[in-house]
Amino acid sequence: MGGWAREGYGGTGPGAITPDGCAVEVYTRLPVGDEPDVVASAVPAGARLLELGCGAGRVTHPLLERGFTVTAVDESPEMLERVRGARTVRSSIETLELDERFDAVLLSSFLVHAGDPRVRDALLRTCRRHVADDGCVLIQREGEDWHDRVPRERRAGDALIRIASADPTDDPEVTSFRTEYVFPDGTWTQTFLSRRLGKERFERALADAGLVVDTYLTADRTWVRALPLR
Ligand SMILES: C[S@@+](CC[C@H](N)C(=O)[O-])C[C@H]1O[C@@H](n2cnc3c(N)ncnc32)[C@H](O)[C@@H]1O
Repeated sequence: MGGWAREGYGGTGPGAITPDGCAVEVYTRLPVGDEPDVVASAVPAGARLLELGCGAGRVTHPLLERGFTVTAVDESPEMLERVRGARTVRSSIETLELDERFDAVLLSSFLVHAGDPRVRDALLRTCRRHVADDGCVLIQREGEDWHDRVPRERRAGDALIRIASADPTDDPEVTSFRTEYVFPDGTWTQTFLSRRLGKERFERALADAGLVVDTYLTADRTWVRALPLR
């Protein structure tokens, strides 16, 4: 199932698959991790949030429960159908043009590692366009050794998530990853591209989009709070 796919991205398994290869069923089932805690530690109580790439609301729903107002954006209508209690907007992040600014913009799920740097830069510009002057942008990056530590696996609820392979592409900075999501009653896969983005290059990409790192929120530097440059 599913319509168009982003080049280099794809997925297999029952049900709808998003253009970047995510299975709607997988993201409906996966439990939330520490994302809401990280967000709550970094933004004021009751903040108006813009969540980019919200999926099925795995993180959206706990954020709503904590009293945040969330506008949830995704290009997949099948994902958005699963989101409850938030205003939803179906759009690619790159082209999003809301007539509104937010206390915080969330770009999680490692979307900043887009294989195509033009996509990455467009995602960051969308963050900049939609953040209030006194607001912030929260970005989730990959861990330092993630491209090199393959295969690896972890448990999430009743799923086993296995980063099964990492294959080189024509671009030495871009890896093609294949992830398996093994549930007791079925298996899904996602293939996606990830561009290495060390601290220096990451901060340069932010600056190009008019953003500057305020603080790395977690010891592993995966979560970042950035501020709009004036
Ligand atoms: C890996 S899933 C994560 C979903 C959610 N953030 C979570 O953590 O459960 C990525 C989601 O982002 C959406 N997405 C990825 N790239 C996008 C883009 N450029 N524009 C709009 N949606 C995008 C996909 O459709 C998918 O629902």
